[in-house]
Amino acid sequence: MVLISGRSGISKSALVKTLRAYVRREGLTRVALRGSPYHTNSALYPVIAHVQQALRFARHEHGREKLAKLEQPCSH
Ligand SMILES: Nc1ncnc2c1ncn2[C@@H]1O[C@H](COP(=O)(O)OP(=O)(O)OP(=O)(O)O)[C@@H](O)[C@H]1O
Ligand SMILES: [Mg+2]
Repeated sequence: MVLISGRSGISKSALVKTLRAYVRREGLTRVALRGSPYHTNSALYPVIAHVQQALRFARHEHGREKLAKLEQPCSH
């Protein structure tokens, strides 16, 4: 894990853009997670949202069904 921080305009976004282009060229999977000012009470909100979307969790599904999806072997 790498934390990129610094004052505005020192090319943080440009650095990330270049890194993403390298990763794409190597054929690796890129996942972008973003925090939200509306979910500051949930530290893992971006990760939770990603897992819910990737595994297509439905609102009506119970914990048991969600766990079964989590335990399925990765399809890619
Ligand atoms: N290698 C580069 N060559 C030319 N221009 C660059 C390069 N890196 C950054 N820039 C330019 O410098 C400016 C600031 O870069 P960037 O947006 O990446 O900064 P930042 O650190 O993400 O800033 P912020 O904190 O405001 O988001 C942009 O206009 C960008 O196009
Ligand atoms: Mg930026």
